[in-house]
Amino acid sequence: MTARTPGEVRAFYDAHRTVRHYVTREDGTPLPLPAEHLDAMLYAAQRAPTDATAQLYSLIRLVSPEVRARLAELTTNAHIATASEAFVVCLDVRRVGRVLEVAGQGVGHWPAIAVHFGIGDAVLAGQNLLTAAEMLGYQGCWIGGVLNGLEGILDVLELPAGVLPFAALTIGTPAEQPLLRPRVPRPLVVHEDRYRDGTEEELRYAIEVMNPIAARGDKPGDWVRLLRAYFAPSGSMEKREPGLVAALKRQGLWAGGE
Ligand SMILES: Cc1cc2nc3c(=O)[nH]c(=O)nc-3n(C[C@H](O)[C@H](O)[C@H](O)COP(=O)(O)O)c2cc1C
Repeated sequence: MTARTPGEVRAFYDAHRTVRHYVTREDGTPLPLPAEHLDAMLYAAQRAPTDATAQLYSLIRLVSPEVRARLAELTTNAHIATASEAFVVCLDVRRVGRVLEVAGQGVGHWPAIAVHFGIGDAVLAGQNLLTAAEMLGYQGCWIGGVLNGLEGILDVLELPAGVLPFAALTIGTPAEQPLLRPRVPRPLVVHEDRYRDGTEEELRYAIEVMNPIAARGDKPGDWVRLLRAYFAPSGSMEKREPGLVAALKRQGLWAGGE
């Protein structure tokens, strides 16, 4: 394959937008994708590199309108019901254990490793799927909102021990045109030879650069306000923490003490 130019690579990634409103059928139901487009996305997902050859992930494709509606509710992300495709991207260490078992082998005890490499594999496969979708002209949205209703999701999707949702992923034809969202300046993110804490000045500048990501309509953006809502005391991450710990325990993936 001919190499792309640096400009083409940048242009491809500049075209990425998280999109939450999709073109639907007239009655508002999901617009199906051509079968070969879906096939290419799933092919891309499975071509992701994988730790120890194990492919420690599963994709649950949400097909029925009832399951779509239930997941939209449990994740508090309505676009799961309207996207052309919606998946729950899961860490899955169950399948590799079953492979060992059918081959007459035992399975070791490695719950921390399971989370480490299982989430890694799930992310690599899901992001390959999203990138393939973008190459075909679609856009999508990762949905960490699965952590808002993890227990219900384990029940609805009948996820056995060893399987845990990382996030959902929706794909469709954009029905909105979001602006390019900023990123933290590179010197704070890319370190050379050793970790370097950014200076206060650099961090303040990063806040300025990132502020537009929190703009809503004509209200100017305030990134710190957004981060506070997620990560400060009593923010949504603290609220999600017990549900995640409970789900890790329920799925046999808890490596901490009682
Ligand atoms: C792991 C992950 C979880 C996310 N969770 C949600 C979510 O629950 N709901 C949502 O609307 N967007 C979600 N997003 C999308 C982010 O808000 C989006 O990627 C970010 O604002 C940057 O925007 P961009 O992708 O358009 O550059 C998530 C993204 C990632 C990678």
